This record gives sequence, C-alpha cells and structure tokens, in this order.
Amino acid sequence: QVFRLEDYRPSDYLIPKTSLTFRLHPDATVVTADLTIARRPGADRHSPLILDGDDLVLKAISIDGALLPASAYQATPDQLIVASPPDAPTFRLRLETEVSPSANSALMGLFRTNGAYCTQCEAEGFRRITYFLDRPDILSVYTVRIEAPKREAPLLLSNGNRQETGELADGWHFAVWHDPFPKPSYLFALVAGDLGAMHDMFTTASGRRVELGIYVEHGKEPFAAYAMDALKRSMRWDEEVYGCEYDLDVFNIVAVSDFNMGAMENKGLNIFNDKYVLADEETATDADFANIEAIIAHEYFHNWTGNRITCRDWFQLCLKEGLTVFRDHEFSADQRSRPVKRIAEVRTLRAHQFPEDQGPLAHPVRPRRYREINNFYTATVYEKGSEVVRMIRTILGPEGFRQGMDLYFQRHDGQAATIEDFLKAFEDASGRDLQQFALWYHQAGTPNLSISTAHDAAKREFVVEIEQSVPPTPSEARKRMMHIPLAFGLVGRDGKDFEHGPVEGADVENGVIHVRKRRHVVRFAGIAERPALSLNRGFSAPITLTVEQKPEDLFFLARHDSDAFSRWQAYNSLLTDALVAARKQAAFAAKLADLAGVIAGDASLEHAFRALALALPGEADIAREMARDIDPDAIFERREALARMIAQSNEAAFREHYAALAFQGRFRPDAASAGRRALRNTLLDYLAPLPGGAELASRHFVDATNMTDRAAALTVLVHRHGETNEAKAALAAFEERHGANPLTMDKWLMIQATAPGAATLDKVKTLTRHPGFTMSNPNRVRALIGTFATANQTAFNRPDGAGYDFFAGVVLEIEPRNPQLAARLATALRSWRSLEPVRRAKAREALQRIAGSDDLSADLRDIVERTLA
Ligand code: ARG
Ligand code: ZN
Repeated sequence: QVFRLEDYRPSDYLIPKTSLTFRLHPDATVVTADLTIARRPGADRHSPLILDGDDLVLKAISIDGALLPASAYQATPDQLIVASPPDAPTFRLRLETEVSPSANSALMGLFRTNGAYCTQCEAEGFRRITYFLDRPDILSVYTVRIEAPKREAPLLLSNGNRQETGELADGWHFAVWHDPFPKPSYLFALVAGDLGAMHDMFTTASGRRVELGIYVEHGKEPFAAYAMDALKRSMRWDEEVYGCEYDLDVFNIVAVSDFNMGAMENKGLNIFNDKYVLADEETATDADFANIEAIIAHEYFHNWTGNRITCRDWFQLCLKEGLTVFRDHEFSADQRSRPVKRIAEVRTLRAHQFPEDQGPLAHPVRPRRYREINNFYTATVYEKGSEVVRMIRTILGPEGFRQGMDLYFQRHDGQAATIEDFLKAFEDASGRDLQQFALWYHQAGTPNLSISTAHDAAKREFVVEIEQSVPPTPSEARKRMMHIPLAFGLVGRDGKDFEHGPVEGADVENGVIHVRKRRHVVRFAGIAERPALSLNRGFSAPITLTVEQKPEDLFFLARHDSDAFSRWQAYNSLLTDALVAARKQAAFAAKLADLAGVIAGDASLEHAFRALALALPGEADIAREMARDIDPDAIFERREALARMIAQSNEAAFREHYAALAFQGRFRPDAASAGRRALRNTLLDYLAPLPGGAELASRHFVDATNMTDRAAALTVLVHRHGETNEAKAALAAFEERHGANPLTMDKWLMIQATAPGAATLDKVKTLTRHPGFTMSNPNRVRALIGTFATANQTAFNRPDGAGYDFFAGVVLEIEPRNPQLAARLATALRSWRSLEPVRRAKAREALQRIAGSDDLSADLRDIVERTLA
C-alpha cells in the first residue's frame, strides 16, 4: 500500500477523551479503552467508524454501555469497523483487547525489556495496543490506569501527572495518570517494573516546581548523573533561547536496554535506549557523553516542537524532527564549542545524508509518498531537515528567526500542523517571501554550485560566476532552481575580509549571496587585489561545491580564514584532493604535511579543532568524492599511505605534542577536556604505524584512566597491529574488565568489527557466537553487524561477495523477529551502484536474495525494492 500526501483527509471522527486501563500480564495483558468519540463537525452522518489495529484480538466491544451485536461491527487483527455508529454528536466506545508483551519482539507497542513493561508508539505502535484512530492529527486527553502485581512492578508510570495510587487484592496495586494536554496516540507511553531511580528538582522561569526522575536498572543510578545534569541544562536553555517552559509537574525519563531507536519524546515520560542515558568515565567515551547531552536535549525540546505542536500527518515528520535537531545542535553549540560542533555536524551530514540523497533511497525532506513510515526516520528528514531550518535563520537573521518561532508557537500551540504553517509563520513575521526557498522541503537531491572567479585589477572588480544544478533523484527527473543562501568572504592577504563596494548580479546581504537562478555573474566593486574566496562559510547551505580554486588559496584559507569552519574545510579539501586525485606531486604532499604539523602545534586553536582537522577524510568520504567504480581496497591503501607520510614528516613534533598532552588530573567530561583527549588520541593514531607503534599504543591502553583513551588505544592496536600479542592482550584485558557491562562490550565488538581487511569477516562470524552477543538485542546487532556493514569498507566489500552474503543472511534472520531493525540494517547496501563492477554484481545478488525471500515484512520489502529499483 502506498500513502500519498495529496490524499490527506481529516478524519470523520475525533476522540476528545481516551481512558485506558491496563491489567498487566507478561503473556496476556488486558487493555480496556474507553473512548469518547465525536463526529467531526461537517462530517457525513453516515460514515462508518474505522479504527486502526495491528495484530490485535478484540475481546469485547460496547457503545454507550450496551454490548454490540456481532452484526454491528467487523474486527480483524488490523482493523475495527463499526458500520453505523450512533447518530449522537458524541458517544462512548468501550473496547477490550488482549496483548502479549513478552511475545512482542518487534519492540513496537507494549513489550518487555529486562523484566519491565515498556511501550514505543511512534509512528504506528499504538494500534498494537488497542484499536484507535492512530494518526497524529487525532488529539486526545488521556487518563491511564495501570494495574500490576506490586512485587513485580512497584513502579507504574504513564504520561502527565500522577493522580491516584492504591492497593488492590492479591498483592496488586494501581496508579492513575492524567495528561491534561491533548496529544496524538504516538506520544502515549507506559512503563511498569522494578527500577532504580535518580531524582532531582527544576524550578521553571515562572516558578513551577518540576519533579525530575530518571529510572534505570537497579545499581545503575550513579550512571544517570550526567543525563540528569544535561536535562536541567536543556530545560534552562529552552527558556532562555526560545522562551519555552516546561508545563507539567513531573518529567520522567526511563532507560531501557531493548530499543529500536535512540529515544522517544512521549509527553512527560521520555523513554531512552540506555546507551543514551548511562555514562561514567570508566564505561563511556567522550562521544557517548556528547550524544547523551544532545539526545536528552532533543527529546526534551520535543515537548514544544513535536508535542505542544505536533504533525498533521507523517509526511510532516520533519516539522518536528528537523526543527528539533536544529534546536539540539544549537544547544550543544552553546554548551560546547560552536565551531567544533559545526564541523562535527557537517561531517555527519556528509557521511549519512549525502549518500542517501545521492542514492536510490533519496527523498525530499518532506516526502510525498511512502509505503512504510518507519523507513522515513532518515538522515534526510532529521539532518537535512535541520539544515533547512538553519538556512531560514540565515535568511531571516537571528531576530527575524526568533519572531517567526514565536509566531509559530503562538498560532499553532495545541494543533497538528504542516510545513506550510511553519513557513507561513516565518513569512508573516518577517515579511519575506519563502516560496522558492520552500523547494528545500519538496525537492530531493544535493544541489551543486559550480564556481569560477576572475579579478580585474584595472577595474578593481572581482567577479564570481555561479552555476546551480540539482541532480535528478528517483521519481524526480527535472528539478527547479533553489534559493541557496551562500555565506562567503573575500579574504585579503592580511587574512581580513575585504569590504566590497556595490554588488551586481545577485542579492548579497550580511556576507551571504542569495543564489536563486541557474546562473549568476556576481560582480564585487572596489576590490583592489585578487582575494582568496571563502565559500559556504559555516556550511550555510547543505550543498556540494565545484570550485576552480588554486591550491595556494586553500593553503592560505586553511591558515587565515576568519571563519573556523572554513579553515577546517579548506584543509580538508586539500586532503581530499590529495586522496582522490592522488596528487602525487611531492611538493603538494610536503606542503600538506607541513600544514598538519603547524595545525597540530598551533596553541591558538582549540584541541578539538586540531583533532578534527588532522583526521583524514574517511574511506567512505573518499569513495563519495570518487562517485563511481569504487574499489575500497585501493582507497584504503591511499589513505594509509598519506597518513604514514604525514606522520613520518612530523614524527618528532607529533611525539612531543603527544607527550605534552598527557593529563593526570581528575576526569571531566566537558568539551575542553574531551578535546585534549581527542587530539592526543589522534596523534596516537598517526604514530601507531611508525616503529614502536604497538608498544606506544599498548602503553596508552594500560595507562588509560577513562574509556575514551582505553577504546582509542584498543582501536589502534586491533586495527593496526591486530596480530601482535599486545593487541590480543588488550582485547582480553578489556573483556575481563568490562565483560559484565553490555553497553561497554558493544565497543569491544565494534572495534573488532571495524578492523580493516578481508579476514575480519570470519572474526565477525565468530563474534556472533560470543556469549555477550545476541541477535535479539538491537544495540548488540548494531554494534557488531551494523558497524561491520557501514564502517568496514574493506571487509564488508570483499570482492568475493562473502561480506554481503553474510550480511544478507543476518538481515533475513532478524527480519521475522524485528522488521524495523532488519530494514534499517539493510540500508547499508544503498550505495551498491557506485561500486566497481565485480563488487556491484555481488552486492546486487545479496539484495536480490533478500528481495526473493518469502513473507518479507513491509519494512524490509520497501527498502530492498527501492534500493534495487
Ligand atoms: N521521535 C523519536 C525522536 O527522534 C524517534 C522515533 C523513531 N521512530 C521510528 N519509528 N523509527 O526523538
Ligand atoms: Zn526527534
């Protein structure tokens, strides 16, 4: 079945009130739903009431207290139809369903994890609990009563505020929760079990006292401290930056070990993959700390962008996700280092969204059609969606942007809105026309700007010629020209930007060229000397650039651009050039190596910035630049050679910096401390292939006092010296130390799964039989299988196809149990067409093997069919 945006119709019925009772049992939970149903004003009096279900068994049904005769309704596992509901404007429909949480391995709806009950309803999981109008424009006020044996489930949580608790017969007890804010069913949540808690308090700007709780496995409470701190900082930040205050008396977070996604923003009761809650220095890396901070913020920020204002339909997913990602990016930028955060965001966008946009799964930020909505929680909707919001801010300026957001909140609070509503708020608040800009939501594909320049000394004029193109994507052959805000600078010899005179050929304001046409010839007056052109500063638009630019200009910009992002970009472009075009000229390579040495030791730069600059483009980044006939082994060799060359020519300096960066003080997870560790670990990686590398890494491993350093050393040992005793000893020591902690052992699996070389495939197969591994936990699967397929270019892409074949087998093994996880994994094959012919044929065979298997779920079928199309 295909769903289309243009087919949207409001529902004929509404559900203003929803009252649920859960009598919890592992195999037979009884759910009673008492729904107040109203006919939508203006709807046809004779329309049948059609409710969604998924895998449901109806036990009883009554309307306004009277049992319904069998002839009056039709119930199947995925639908309930009442052909002629009462004529009255409202009536009460009472439904009883029975579900088995313990048999629910799909992790959608009500399921069990570590002995607790837990729900996940976005996007369409609520219909696995009871029949309902399971669509985001049906806003209802929920009252939820949970009953369970007290011993098994002392903790009973749902959305909103706790209204009542009490004892029942036979050692059972109950709790009643009421959420005064009307919400769509995808935001419903329930948790029941025996969990440990960490509590805190937050007082909002207007004086509301909010009780905060984070619930984790018993014994793990201390690991929630960082998440709690991040939560309080998020709450304050949203008040200060957006004027958004929290609106209930409690805010709870529950961490669970079996979860298909990162986390979920259920109203007042966020549920998290425990990987994004639990951390301390012994078990989590600096990257984990940063992710926890970002995801805690993301889910919290959804309270306004997602919950108070939700989506009219699932085509509007980016309305809440793109916007909320933008908000969490800005939060992290404020809490940490803005330029470093920006570089990391762009690297992520290029690594995940660009290949999506350039491959068979490309779709607009706001898709027009889908077969399975779960497959649209993508980098395009999330990350590109965030970039689109960032561009709105660039175009409107910070004040105009804030006014637009204020108007959006004011107009649409309590509503299910659309992208058109969102854009209209910015247009009305600023008086600007965003019509052409709106194409960013509607057109897939990464636009390219091709740029050349000329300087006329006599006329004191600098000319920039810009040519726009938007590549074709599946089902969109012809594209319209986009409005691209291109931030730039004309950098003079002193490193300062030229103050240019009048400009012709495009609108230029506040350092931004507004590209709107296929071709612009932009003339800057009053430029005496040829400047170095700094383009797409701060990555103002999610595009690719083809620039005719002298390497000297890039070397210059890498040192002197006033925009830190562009400095990083300039150096990174040079590295990419060296790797892609294999610019073998010794002089070029030597200059690059010199610059690496300068950057490594430049005390005026943040440690984290230096670490990011020194990190070579990844194998996948290089492959993307090459675009076709990719040979992953050849890319690997080139990258290794450049790394070794840089290391050799800076050996003494790198060793010195490495030693100087050692730090003995108390561990702190803040950005500055993390940056220091990042730089030292980057230098370790450079030094590793040089003589004594294994010993150096081994010492780093043994001396490590935190997981960041320990994991970095283990990576170097396993990836570069895998056959040595040092590597084997370190793997054993790690397992000995962390064997009891699955989240930490995931790193152990990941490090081994990403070791370069064909032989890793057998290692991964062996690891699937390790007692710590199981196909039934999504985190384990992603750590071992997911990273193998997405981050191990040489082993996954073995020319004999054995990597793909193994992978297809695993996807098919997981699919019956957890279709969503299988479908997500399968996207690892999306770039198969850009491989060289031998591997391409093998990858296609693996995809066809999946496609040809019987009884595929809608999730997996959708991905493989689009990938092969
Ligand atoms: N709304 C959640 C978040 O971004 C993610 C839900 C993912 N759902 C899914 N079906 N994949 O915060
Ligand atoms: Zn989200």
